[in-house]
Amino acid sequence: GIKLVTIGGGSSYTPELMEGFIKRYEELPIREIWLVDIEAGQDKLDIVGQMAQRMWDASPYDVKVHLTLDRREALQDADFVTTQFRVGLLDARIKDERIPLSYGMVGQETNGAGGILKAFRTIPVILDIVEDMKQLCPDAWLVNFTNPSGMVTDAVIRYGKWDKVIGLCNVPVNAMMAEPELIGKKPEELIYSFAGLNHFHWHRVHDVHGQDVTRDIIDKMYDGDSGIPANIHDMPFFKEQLQQMNMIPCGYHRYYYRAEEMLAHMLEEYRDPAVGTRAEQVKQTEAELFELYKDPNLDHKPEQLSKRGGAHYSDAACETIASIYANKNTHIVVSTKNNGAVPDLAPDDVVEVSAYIGATGAKPIAFGALAPAEKGWLQVMKNMERCVEEAAVTGDYGLALQAFIINPLIPSGETAKRVLDELLIAHKAYLPQF
Ligand code: NAD
Ligand code: G6P
Ligand code: MN
Repeated sequence: GIKLVTIGGGSSYTPELMEGFIKRYEELPIREIWLVDIEAGQDKLDIVGQMAQRMWDASPYDVKVHLTLDRREALQDADFVTTQFRVGLLDARIKDERIPLSYGMVGQETNGAGGILKAFRTIPVILDIVEDMKQLCPDAWLVNFTNPSGMVTDAVIRYGKWDKVIGLCNVPVNAMMAEPELIGKKPEELIYSFAGLNHFHWHRVHDVHGQDVTRDIIDKMYDGDSGIPANIHDMPFFKEQLQQMNMIPCGYHRYYYRAEEMLAHMLEEYRDPAVGTRAEQVKQTEAELFELYKDPNLDHKPEQLSKRGGAHYSDAACETIASIYANKNTHIVVSTKNNGAVPDLAPDDVVEVSAYIGATGAKPIAFGALAPAEKGWLQVMKNMERCVEEAAVTGDYGLALQAFIINPLIPSGETAKRVLDELLIAHKAYLPQF
C-alpha cells in the first residue's frame, strides 16, 4: 500500500484530490493519506479532513485519512508527497494584490509584484520540506502544486538539489478538456504539444493524421469556451497575433499581450468595494465551501468548487502519481527540468512542457526552437524567475530589485522600489531571509 502525504491539507481543493484518488484506486492502491497543516489552518484541516474521510467511507475502499500538524511524523516513509500550501493564507494574497494595485500596477497571485512576493514567502518553506524529505522519505516523489508552481519546482531542483519533483498546474488540463469540442473533436482525437513556463506556455495541436489544427482552434476560440480558468478575466487575444504565431497562448498571457486592458479591468474591480480583488472574492467562495464541507451528510465534491480557478487540478495530480507508480508513460504537461526540450532555455532550467510520465519521472518531449517574438518573452521571463528564486534563497535586496525591474508587469522606477519596500514590510513575518 502507498503512503501519501499532502502538505497544506486544509485547502478547499482537498476533496478534488480525494475524488481523483478514489477514481484511480484500482491502479493506485493507497493505504493511508496524511493531511498536514499548521496551527493557523487547524480548523480548516479538521473540517475538510473529516469530509475527506467521509468520501473514502462512501467508496468501496478502505483508506484512512490522518490529520496532523506534525509534518515530520507524516513524512516518515512516505511514497508520494503533494504540496498545496499557501504561506500567510489568503490574507497574504490580498496584500500581494492590493499593494501593487494601489500604485497602479498589476496585483495578481502569480504574476507581477504579487507573484514575486509569493515566491519569496514560499521558497524557504519548500526547501525546508525537501530537507525533511531527505531524512524521512528519501525515495519519495514530490508533486508540487504550490504557486508560483514553476519557480517553486525550479527552486526544489536548483537549490534543494532534489530531482524527484514534478510541478503541476491545471491550465493545460483545462485547455485540453475544452478545445476539442470547439472543432468538433473528442480529446483522444487530438495530439497536444506544450512548451514554455508555468502560466507562460504556448501550445500547438495536431489531429491523429498529423495535420496541424492549431489554426482551426484559434479561429473558433473566440466564440466558445476555450478553457480559460475562472480567475482570469476573459479579455480576447488579438486574432492576427495568434494566427501569426500559430500557437495558442495560455490564459495568463493576457496579462502580457493585453497588459493595458487587463490592468484597467483589475483596477476597476479593486476600486469597487462591492467587487474587490480576486483573493477577496475567493475568501467568500472559500467560506461557502467550508460551510458545505461541515455537513456530515456530504460525501462527494460539491459543484461549487468549480468557482475556484484550480478546478480539475486532481486530473493532473492524481494522474501524475498513478503514472509514476504504474509506469504508464502518460502525456501530461508538467514543470520539469528542460534537458533540451526547449532549446531557447538552458538545459537545467525548469520549463512547463509536454512530457511522458513514468517510473523515472518526466521525460520532456522536444518542442523545438521558438520564433523571435516568443523566444524574447520566454528568456526574459525565465531569467526574471531565476533572479526571484536566488533572492528568495539569499534575501539579497539588490537582486529582488533587479527582478522587479526586469518583470514586464512592473514599470521600473521609484514607484517599483516603493512597492517592493511596502510588500517586504507587509509580509515581514513570512520573510526571515530579508
Ligand atoms: P489555502 O489558503 O487554502 O491554503 C492551503 C493550506 O495551506 C491552508 O490550510 C494553510 O493553513 C496551509 N499552510 C499555510 N502554510 C503552511 C505551511 N508552512 N505548511 C503546511 N501548510 C501550510 O490555499 P488554496 O487556495 O487551497 O491554494 C493552495 C496552494 O495551491 C496555493 O499556493 C495556490 O496558489 C496553489 N494553487 C495552485 C494551482 C496550480 O495551478 N498549480 C491552482 C490553484 C491553487
Ligand atoms: C488558476 C491557476 C492557479 C491559480 C488559481 C487561482 O487556474 O492555474 O495556479 O492560482 O487558478 O484560482 P483562485 O480561485 O484561487 O483565484
Ligand atoms: Mn496554475
